[in-house]
Amino acid sequence: MSALVDIIAGARPNFMKIAPIIRALQERKAHGSVLDWRLVHTGQHYDPRMSGDFFKQLGIPEPDVNLEVGSGSHAGQTAAIMVAYEKLLLERESDLCLVVGDVTSTMACSITAQKLHIPVAHVEGGLRSGDWTMPEEINRLVTDSVTDWFFTTSRNAGEILRCSGVGEERIFFVGNTMIDTLLANLERIRPPAFVEEQGIDNGEYLVLTLHRPANVDEPANLARLLGEVARGSEGKPVVFPVHPRTRQVCEQIGELPDNLILEEPQPYLEFIWLVRNALGVITDSGGITEEATVMGIPCMTLRNTTERPETVEIGTNELLGTDPERIAPALKRLLSGSWKKGEIPEMWDGKTGERIAATLEDLASSGRLSRNEVRSGRN
Ligand code: UD1
Repeated sequence: MSALVDIIAGARPNFMKIAPIIRALQERKAHGSVLDWRLVHTGQHYDPRMSGDFFKQLGIPEPDVNLEVGSGSHAGQTAAIMVAYEKLLLERESDLCLVVGDVTSTMACSITAQKLHIPVAHVEGGLRSGDWTMPEEINRLVTDSVTDWFFTTSRNAGEILRCSGVGEERIFFVGNTMIDTLLANLERIRPPAFVEEQGIDNGEYLVLTLHRPANVDEPANLARLLGEVARGSEGKPVVFPVHPRTRQVCEQIGELPDNLILEEPQPYLEFIWLVRNALGVITDSGGITEEATVMGIPCMTLRNTTERPETVEIGTNELLGTDPERIAPALKRLLSGSWKKGEIPEMWDGKTGERIAATLEDLASSGRLSRNEVRSGRN
């Protein structure tokens, strides 16, 4: 008997995480797998630059369903996703709800499914920053509290889950699907047109990304932060693909330093090219710290905490905190070539999507996706 898996995606960082899982399921289907899937886009991100471009470049099939919820407050967006996804499940229920990452769509769909007694699998489960002021941390805590099956990116994440009482049989250490996508596409990356147009020399620029509310929502704070980046970069160009949320605040700041090159959010292949060929990256994203680590590019994170400690302990990432004063001294170290080299974390080998598909197939064929079994298997 076949099993229907809902694959949930809503916001930009979800798309590179689902692509390898879908590819692995497609390959298995071609060989008679019992697993079927339905791709559900919540519509949390809707601009082509935040969504459609990624589907095209990564060869992700068109979503089977788009819930089209759009932007809103956290509560408003969560509620809209829950209502729309519940309606879908009541029309045609699935056997498993598979969510990835830590965005609002991840949390909203996992709660909705579990309330209808549909088991939940969380790809990237067990991550914790410990910072409850970040919406993503609340999303992680809530999602993991209603998750049946956890796919983890590190041993540390598994340990966190075990300490919170999750049974060993529900945790699968599989690696990182975002890195599957990175490794599968490295040969396809290409420079954005503005690199040549603006005469930016290969390997002689920095990349900056900022979108966390703590860094960007207050214009005076963002202005200071951008000023410090410009000051510390010793006149080198700083390529800054601007998230829509950050763009709104930049417009209130007025004139920005000359060597900041503001661009639209970049498609995947162009963005990875920019990171791969940069002197270093300054960011407040989590996923970029993982990608920079695998490519061996120096990375500084403008946050006080990380839910991805391996990028700091093993990789090229360093936590600078949110005090702009710390940026220039760190850039000095980076530009003098004395940044740490870093290594690639365990199991970040490009085969995670296949490991997840194989595990799902095992669960389905051994009847463990059946709801009673899942409930009685809990501790
Ligand atoms: C979301 C995720 C964050 C992730 C980020 C990547 C949550 C809580 N946050 O943050 O974890 O790192 O995506 O981008 O889920 N907007 C547009 N077009 C779009 C989408 C958003 O213009 O396609 C604007 C809207 O003004 C919106 C704002 O950006 O209100 C913020 O979007 P939202 O999805 O709420 O959060 P992000 O900051 O993108």
